Amino acid sequence: MTTPDDKDRRLGRFRVDPDHGSRLTTDQGIPVDDTDNSLRVGERGPTLMEDFHFREKLTHFDHERIPERVVHARGTGAYGYFEVTDPLTEYTSAEFLRDTSLRTPVFVRFSTVAGSRGSADTVRDVRGFATKFYTRQGNFDLVGNNMPVFFIQDGIKFPDFVHAVKPEPHNEIPQASSAHDTLWDFVHLQPETTHMMMWLMSDRALPRSFRMMQGFGVHTFRLVDEEGAGTFVKFHWKPRLGTHSLVWDETQKIAGKDPDFNRRDLWEAIEAGQYPEWELGVQLVPEEREHAFDFDLLDATKIIPEEEVPVRPVGRLVLDRNPDNFFAETEQVAFHLGNVVPGIDFTNDPLLQARLFSYLDTQLIRLGGPNFTQLPVNRPVAEVRNHQRDGYHQSAIHTGRAAYHPNSLSGGCPAVVPEGAFTHYQERVDGNKIRKRSESFADHYSQATLFWNSMSDWEKEHIIAAFRFELGKVEHRHIRQGVVANLNNVDHYLAVSVAEGVGVEPPAQPATPNHGRSSPALSQANAPRDSV
Ligand code: HEM
Repeated sequence: MTTPDDKDRRLGRFRVDPDHGSRLTTDQGIPVDDTDNSLRVGERGPTLMEDFHFREKLTHFDHERIPERVVHARGTGAYGYFEVTDPLTEYTSAEFLRDTSLRTPVFVRFSTVAGSRGSADTVRDVRGFATKFYTRQGNFDLVGNNMPVFFIQDGIKFPDFVHAVKPEPHNEIPQASSAHDTLWDFVHLQPETTHMMMWLMSDRALPRSFRMMQGFGVHTFRLVDEEGAGTFVKFHWKPRLGTHSLVWDETQKIAGKDPDFNRRDLWEAIEAGQYPEWELGVQLVPEEREHAFDFDLLDATKIIPEEEVPVRPVGRLVLDRNPDNFFAETEQVAFHLGNVVPGIDFTNDPLLQARLFSYLDTQLIRLGGPNFTQLPVNRPVAEVRNHQRDGYHQSAIHTGRAAYHPNSLSGGCPAVVPEGAFTHYQERVDGNKIRKRSESFADHYSQATLFWNSMSDWEKEHIIAAFRFELGKVEHRHIRQGVVANLNNVDHYLAVSVAEGVGVEPPAQPATPNHGRSSPALSQANAPRDSV
């Protein structure tokens, strides 16, 4: 165990050891004489309402559960620290990315996406990689995944996508699997999912260990320097132990024998002092180069190829402490893309913009009201001073009379913007209000092909096998055929190999690659079809 950091010291105030063995009390602190027998009339009579200990014990138990996360419900977390090794001083005013003497405490939660809280670890799925940096300038959350792209380009489609991914509504089947009609129905009608589906069918979806998994911020963010000038940035986590996957056959056996395989691995490594480490890397793109690529930097279904913009290593993340209590910390941690510190800002990526709304919104119900920021794991180490008051689960005792701004009673009326305050990046935007996606988002296949071409032969065989397995379980033939038609725009050999494995017509060699202007399947979606 390393020496306690700032966050650890603050958590110390909240740690409680009820020492059940020696003395039991009620929630009111009243010593309990007997917790095994309820108070009743005679030895075989009814239980009495006046048994306050019985009622309190049962009531508390009855209310122990909170809703699981709407996605990423299954997860595990750990504390650690981040150190910047190559300061980004010229690009950002964020102190934790500038000052090499700082050790910034962090909490990281790894997760699967589709399965429920009790589902198995080693399923074919995306993995979440969410990091809360408790910086001296406030909390910064980097809420990423282990794949560098996403399924959709605009967050307004997220509910549709998640409804399609999750178990089907009539029978809750399948739990945590990519083998079902609704997922592939959505996918074949939305060709923007193609690039991410290639990642999902690859071995990247089967990480051997969280310690051996990359992480990506996915979106293009902005670093902002002290003068207010911006630089586009993509964030990358690279594991020191290398990136390793299981193979499909292993994952299925492990899911049966040890559904907690990844969770256990992380826990045990940390307990044994084998602290996992990641390197933080950044791809930096000057604002002037915003339109220099053959894809749109605001499109989350695209990577910036490293040949075009190399990843610059800038820091190190170490996880060295397991939480004390899963529910209090790992379950109640609340990550939010909107938690940024001075020197880091957003872009107009429409997926990112939707996420800025969604996380806080869902946490208001998941964690029971607006005061979840006071929960020990969510509290910043930076000072919190504002006029937010009251609400469910308020644990602060705010003193003073003035809970408003400006006021002349309690010094709440600063004349100037305090130094170090967050000021939003001053981007000029101009346009008509329209529901329309930019043409620069229209190419859905080039990078899927790039991904396919970067695979070795055995990796390609794994991808084909995965498509055959997952898509092969889809009942509706037109969906299988539609997916194959989309894949034909990625690679003809891939499409034919998948077609053969899932019992549909192999497609003809495309005359020219269709770079996704429209989905072949979408145009047929409303046409009459053979049912199964
Ligand atoms: C949860 C990543 C897109 C809504 C999460 C978590 C991660 C994550 C890692 C788990 C956080 C935790 O461990 O507590 C991503 C990435 C995305 C993406 C990398 C795309 C690049 C979206 C979009 C939406 C969304 C587009 C909605 C518009 C949610 C919600 C949760 C969640 C509601 C549950 C949060 C909670 O209950 O605390 N996401 N997500 N995500 N995500 Fe996303």
